[in-house]
Amino acid sequence: MSLLEGQDLCRKYQLSGQDPVWALRDVSCRMEAGSWTTIAGPSGSGKSSLLALLAALDRPTSGKVLVGGENISFATDVVQARYRRNRIGIVFQEYQLLEQLSALENVAMPLLVTNMKGKTRRERARQLLAAVGLEARAAHLPRQLSGGERQRVALARALVHDPDILFADEPTSNIDQKAARQVLDILHGVKDRGRTLVIVSHDPQMLVPADQVLTLEDGRLVS
Ligand SMILES: Nc1ncnc2c1ncn2[C@@H]1O[C@H](COP(=O)(O)OP(=O)(O)OP(=O)(O)O)[C@@H](O)[C@H]1O
Ligand SMILES: [Mg+2]
Repeated sequence: MSLLEGQDLCRKYQLSGQDPVWALRDVSCRMEAGSWTTIAGPSGSGKSSLLALLAALDRPTSGKVLVGGENISFATDVVQARYRRNRIGIVFQEYQLLEQLSALENVAMPLLVTNMKGKTRRERARQLLAAVGLEARAAHLPRQLSGGERQRVALARALVHDPDILFADEPTSNIDQKAARQVLDILHGVKDRGRTLVIVSHDPQMLVPADQVLTLEDGRLVS
């Protein structure tokens, strides 16, 4: 059984008074535990929409996502929230950091729902910030960070609770070559620890280490 399986996923967005947009049409895919999947394709092809379904942030119009054989797409909100909290980490395309919290507090946030002590949480968050090269920015608010730094804080936050599956939407899109190398090294480390990666990216560097590349075009899987 695959860790993650999308079956005939369709997602229709309907804005009132407009033609529907079929962001995904009959997309089926499988991700084995410990594998690296890169999702590629032009802008608007449905990559973020697919990620949202796999991460149970959104529900398909038809089709389903199975996690370890269990249908997560039509599970209750509580079950979906547990899946997101315990099993996955997500780096959003727009980062979605909390503006009132420092870099360190943002990274520590997923640990608030664990029974870890405050001091241990801060230590763990500091480790992750160091791993993305941002220990010196721990006290900065998101608006006091560069775009690439925000992106790396988001990566540290997604990994702080050591999730089974890491989803990342364009994790190297706003950073220079050196920072991208750093992000890539971190992703390799995640895979070496036996975790599963699902990365949306145009970056050719993200294609090389992938066990499979899924290419979307106009909502359809073309390879
Ligand atoms: N909430 C929404 N409501 C209506 N249409 C949407 C919504 N989200 C996405 N779409 C449309 O669905 C299509 C797929 O969007 P999606 O964000 O999945 O593309 P993408 O492949 O991630 O693109 P990019 O590379 O630019 O991030 C696009 O045509 C987009 O305009
Ligand atoms: Mg996108």
